[in-house]
Amino acid sequence: MRNSSRFAAVVLAGALLGPTWALTATADDKPDAKKIFEDQKCNKCHRVSTEHINPIKEKEDIVDLSGIGAEHDQGWFKQWLKKEVEKDSKLKPGEKTKHKGAFKGTDPELDALTGWLKSLTKKGK
Ligand code: HEC
Repeated sequence: MRNSSRFAAVVLAGALLGPTWALTATADDKPDAKKIFEDQKCNKCHRVSTEHINPIKEKEDIVDLSGIGAEHDQGWFKQWLKKEVEKDSKLKPGEKTKHKGAFKGTDPELDALTGWLKSLTKKGK
């Protein structure tokens, strides 16, 4: 009898803790956009001054993505990062440009990253 009541206690604890574990797992599974930004080395060429994200190395042509969310929608960001669209270059006025590198992460990562880009509506300096 002793054993089976211990078993019951474990099952009960599992049932109570289960939902908590499930919640934690979901939070961990959601890709973190800032981490993706750094993992994908976007900060080789970009800063996001409003988010205190600095370039790996300071260069003259570092592009600040602060406020970029106000200029494009999420679908455009996805296409841009996959090099499927071009736009008027800000660095070379009068020229059209596609993005430098094509995104190498997974689709969920691209979703998280572009959703975050869309949220960057506060202008930097
Ligand atoms: C090798 C350098 C380089 C890397 C790495 C890079 N970018 Fe860029 N990116 C650029 C340049 C240069 C521009 C500006 C093009 C122009 O306007 O002439 C740009 C433009 C952009 C724009 C559009 C800005 C606008 O004004 O419309 C977004 C959004 C962007 N990059 C996001 C990213 C993200 C996210 C990553 C990482 C996955 C990344 N970039 C990695 C060089 C880079």
